[in-house]
Amino acid sequence: MCSTWLLTKAALTWQPLLIEAVLLTLLMSFHVTVEPAQETFTVNADETILSAAKQQGLPLPHACQSGTCGACQAHLDSGHVSVLQVQQALSEADLNHGQILLCCTAAQSDVVVTMPKYQGAQAIVPHIMPTKISGLVIYGNYAVLTLALPKNKSLHFHPGQYADVLLRQQQRRSYSIAAYDETNHTLELHVRRHADGVFSEPLFSGKLPINSMLRLQLPLGSFALQENAKPLLMLATGTGIAPIKAMLAQLVRTASPRPLALYWGMSQNEWFYDTAAIMALMGAMPHAQIHLVASHPSAAWAGLSGHVQDCAIRNHPDLHNHEVYACGNPHMIDDAYMRCINECGLPESAFFADRFTPTTHNA
Ligand SMILES: Cc1cc2nc3c(=O)[nH]c(=O)nc-3n(C[C@H](O)[C@H](O)[C@H](O)COP(=O)(O)OP(=O)(O)OC[C@H]3O[C@@H](n4cnc5c(N)ncnc54)[C@H](O)[C@@H]3O)c2cc1C
Ligand code: FES
Repeated sequence: MCSTWLLTKAALTWQPLLIEAVLLTLLMSFHVTVEPAQETFTVNADETILSAAKQQGLPLPHACQSGTCGACQAHLDSGHVSVLQVQQALSEADLNHGQILLCCTAAQSDVVVTMPKYQGAQAIVPHIMPTKISGLVIYGNYAVLTLALPKNKSLHFHPGQYADVLLRQQQRRSYSIAAYDETNHTLELHVRRHADGVFSEPLFSGKLPINSMLRLQLPLGSFALQENAKPLLMLATGTGIAPIKAMLAQLVRTASPRPLALYWGMSQNEWFYDTAAIMALMGAMPHAQIHLVASHPSAAWAGLSGHVQDCAIRNHPDLHNHEVYACGNPHMIDDAYMRCINECGLPESAFFADRFTPTTHNA
């Protein structure tokens, strides 16, 4: 009884101090310096380093924002961080060597990190832009959305990068840039409908009609074509075709001689959308082949059946000399990554991916 009273009293005495200490830590902000670019920005103790950098317009390399792709990997040179979500992309050896993922960690003191891939001032800095919906073509649960950009602004981006649609209450939703028309100042995004989706549902149900204004932050992410002559194997599921479409346009524009095989998968064959535009790009490259793959095809389906990575690996058992670009469903990407490397001899450094994780699952 007595000890309970003592404990209770101690708890009562200490609790406000403890709460105050926790609140103070959460309200504290620190400086993060990124080497070798020597750029410094401010982060709060309760947000990930990556999300602070994004909000302040620093284009640090990143893709999935959920600890799975490794694109935001950095070395912690000095300072302390707390881990807010599992750093799946890091091995035990990476962790022991001081590697961290900026999308999973928060600063708990001033921090210096090294990120060799970050080009600092030479990187394309993301901007916030007002846009207007100028076109919407709906194919079942998929939509091709055209947005008119301000006439006085031109867009610089690497095909493969994405835009965040900025919504109310600081919510944002990520969409890959599928096409940019420099002459008409328009941008194309591909949107999949999700039941009760904060952004997709109003779009599909007509609550965001033509001429509605949308604010975008772009360009973001580090999924981009590498410049070399290696043959390309591209894998896409669903709207994962969007950044691949931008990459195809780049290959056509530069008259690239790189051999290319694209495997695009949908659950049902009736769901393939925007096929005329994709086929036109593929048709403009004599050394390119496209394979449509349906995992649950109808009886009349004449294309491939199964999963894109299974079909691709069956047809390309030796990938020593290739580059692989995979985009869309994270399970497809994880499976393709393991199998391309373990079964087909693809070097780890030749696998590039953009996981379409739900924004609600991101930090
Ligand atoms: C870098 C990047 C690029 C992306 N590019 C595209 C793109 O080009 N086109 C596109 O359609 N999507 C893309 N996504 C995925 C998209 O940002 C999310 O799916 C987004 O959450 C959808 O917003 P919403 O408002 O429609 O649904 P939300 O309000 O976010 O979600 C509603 C419900 O649907 C579920 N849900 C949402 N998205 C998914 C998903 N992808 N898989 C499974 N369940 C889900 C949620 O868990 C929730 O239960 C991208 C994601 C990333 C990280
Ligand atoms: S692991 Fe951080 S962006 Fe993918």
